[in-house]
Amino acid sequence: MDRIRIQGGRALNGTIPISGAKNATLPLMIASLLTEETLNLDNVPRLADVTLLQHILSNHGVDIMVSGKRAGENEHTGQSMHLSAKNIVDTTAPYHLVSKMRASFWVIGPLVARMGEAKVSMPGGCAIGTRPVDFHLDVLRALGAEIEIEAGYVLAKAKRGLKGARITFPKVSVGATHTALMAASLAAGESVIENAAREPEVSDVAECLRKMGATIEGIGTSTLRVQGAKRLKSARHTVLPDRIETGTYAMAAAMAGGDVTLAGARPELLQEALDVLQKAGVTVAVTNEGIRIARNGVSLAPVTVSTQPFPGFPTDLQAQLMALMSRAKGTSKITETIFENRFMHVSELARLGAKIQLDGDTASIEGVERLKGAPVMATDLRASVSLVIAGLAAEGETMVHRVYHLDRGFERLEEKLARCGAAIERVAG
Ligand code: UD1
Repeated sequence: MDRIRIQGGRALNGTIPISGAKNATLPLMIASLLTEETLNLDNVPRLADVTLLQHILSNHGVDIMVSGKRAGENEHTGQSMHLSAKNIVDTTAPYHLVSKMRASFWVIGPLVARMGEAKVSMPGGCAIGTRPVDFHLDVLRALGAEIEIEAGYVLAKAKRGLKGARITFPKVSVGATHTALMAASLAAGESVIENAAREPEVSDVAECLRKMGATIEGIGTSTLRVQGAKRLKSARHTVLPDRIETGTYAMAAAMAGGDVTLAGARPELLQEALDVLQKAGVTVAVTNEGIRIARNGVSLAPVTVSTQPFPGFPTDLQAQLMALMSRAKGTSKITETIFENRFMHVSELARLGAKIQLDGDTASIEGVERLKGAPVMATDLRASVSLVIAGLAAEGETMVHRVYHLDRGFERLEEKLARCGAAIERVAG
């Protein structure tokens, strides 16, 4: 299993290109199941999760082609992917595939909407809390599907198609909003989705569904109004930049010190996180190219942050902020309100010398003068990158084990950081 070796203490200077958003790419790929025509996606990141989803969709009969490089493109230009679900040959998503990636459960909406049936294994995925799928099932029931649960599988049936309905979520859920949007796009009549997630990736999927022929109003707000179409059609869509990757490298630059431009990043996708960095004393500037992050010699001020649905501070940047605050001058408080049990990075950060106390859903981080390199273990996608951030500022060598978690969501991480001067390398085997 690959590891990542970091020699801490080097500043970061240069440009980091931001890739297409993983969390938009996955549902966009899944949306291809809604039409027999081809869906063309540009700026698709090269990630293990994308490859795995290609595999899962192929299993349903989706033909997927990835275009080669064209003139003027470099290795950081995202891929173009063409997905054609002309013939869906199998409406079952088996355990051995769905258990590898939670988001693949989301095939259930499009499959039942278009084919009138789906059999999808209950998911596994990141070890961050219980993460149930009850909201997804409530959505499908509201749209007229019959749902049964049998031997770890959800069986959804709607032989005469889905029918538009009013759906009110008790809690904001990104995934269940995707399910509602995709299923409602092929349901007869109007659906109203209330307390919908407003995450930019949800809006990106809604924009794509609109191009495919659904009528969707209220994009970017918490009430979405969808007029379903009888058939959806071919479309071309460019995946938006990854705000979590952007925030992660912003925190890496803030941690290591230096001056880094995050090329292609869009500040409005992570305004709250940028505000937090500014409060911590980091220089944040919006440029023509993207976002510039600089810290030269100034010490970090502690912050108090609570994770919230968009536009609040994202849970997917919580671990990274905690790593950063482990070097602040004073005590920070970070409260996790979205997922239980999303503090697995705490004990690993402690191995590097961070002083973190947990009290229920709140972590108190007492900043320390110095962190010291050590072997650490990646536990989930975002937690693992927090260890890399800490390693950038730790004295000596940090070896991050189980980096397959990183490869799920960060494209060429070690290369992007090394180009800016970090002493970081992948050790194979
Ligand atoms: C998505 C993101 C993930 C991010 C999360 C929150 C993708 C591929 N993943 O995950 O990176 O951390 O949004 O921004 O886009 N819940 C239920 N029942 C359900 C569904 C969710 O109780 O049926 C709860 C969850 O346990 C959690 C909360 O709702 O407490 C929010 O989860 P949700 O927004 O659904 O997360 P995901 O879509 O799985």
